[in-house]
Amino acid sequence: MILVTGGAGFIGANFVLDWLADCDEPVINLDKLTYAGNLHNLASVEGVARHLFVQGDIGDRALVAGLLAKHRPRAVINFAAESHVDRSIHGPEDFIQTNVVGTFHFLEEIRAYWNAMEGMEKAEFRFLHVSTDEVYGSLGPHDDAFTETTAYAPNSPYSASKAASDHLVRAYHHTYGLPVLTTNCSNNYGPYQFPEKLIPLVMMNAVAGKPLPIYGDGLNVRDWLYVGDHCSAIRAVLSAGQAGEVYNIGGRNEKTNIDVVKTICTMLDALHPASPVTPHEKLITYVKDRAGHDRRYAIDARKIERELGWRPQETFETGIRKTVAWYLANPDWVANVATGEYRHWVEKQYGSQA
Ligand code: NAD
Ligand code: TYD
Repeated sequence: MILVTGGAGFIGANFVLDWLADCDEPVINLDKLTYAGNLHNLASVEGVARHLFVQGDIGDRALVAGLLAKHRPRAVINFAAESHVDRSIHGPEDFIQTNVVGTFHFLEEIRAYWNAMEGMEKAEFRFLHVSTDEVYGSLGPHDDAFTETTAYAPNSPYSASKAASDHLVRAYHHTYGLPVLTTNCSNNYGPYQFPEKLIPLVMMNAVAGKPLPIYGDGLNVRDWLYVGDHCSAIRAVLSAGQAGEVYNIGGRNEKTNIDVVKTICTMLDALHPASPVTPHEKLITYVKDRAGHDRRYAIDARKIERELGWRPQETFETGIRKTVAWYLANPDWVANVATGEYRHWVEKQYGSQA
């Protein structure tokens, strides 16, 4: 079996659902259930015997040691992290605690587990660490896209904490020989994304007739990848990646934020004409910029394409259409996340404009 961490969050849940749909191998899903972890994301696999959910922290060494000893996974895929840049600006501590200290404790237990293995089991074990393109910093408009050898230059507490975890993972390979794989992916979007991130936030606000907040001039560029394509890339790296290697994952879909928001508005005009305010673009509101806002990210994914034959299935246009349709078709999921912690966050981040 495999052990997945953070599998109740956005990408982890998509990964677990795809995995269980595509193969028979069981999954242990270790997730702390922070504000971003949501068991509703996993409702469709409730009662599936091949899925074992365990609530807990990757930094809880006794818990992790017990799970490893009992279930003996052949691979570990580490999604668990604090993941939102704006939250890291308001309060970096949780990011250091989980992404740096938590990853360290987790790696120590993985190392002890792997060290005690022998033969084929030891040779075939893999620890796959899921990371982000944000560790490479910010690009100018004409700079080449990030490759696996681009120097790290993280700018936010979030990206700095992810960079630290990537360095630990790298060092555990170099020093101890732990068979690690690291993936650095661009911005994801798709079903089950928590509505603090741009695309689901805009979707939810637009159908509710609320302002669509654009930071700064709206011309920051992100390289968008449909979450299902990220999950298929991780599976490709897990099955055929070389231990110790890094793989950049991206979809060659560079878009300015304002373009993304206008695309969603146009789709909603056609698919959801009953919204309180139409055309939806009327809701676009420019707000104060994010502190230290990275201008542009772009991924050069030629290594994973060349070496592992991976290709994204979705263009931005097909992926965003699926995503908009999913949010419209799942009002119960949306209503469920729009309570409690999420509302509290919106008030703190956007104040009276919320
Ligand atoms: P998310 O915030 O939606 O989910 C994170 C999950 O991790 C949640 O279920 C949460 O409960 C869990 N978690 C947090 N701290 C934990 C801890 N200490 N122990 C166990 N579980 C814990 O994040 P996401 O968007 O799904 O991102 C998943 C991973 O992918 C992260 O490592 C992130 O850095 C990386 N990533 C995200 C993107 C993106 O666009 N969202 C892009 C590239 C890489
Ligand atoms: P986000 O989804 O938070 O991802 P990241 O910061 O990890 O790239 O933001 C994507 C882009 O959208 C980023 O440039 C910030 C911008 N943004 C807004 O303009 N308004 C918003 O309300 C949010 C959440 C993000």
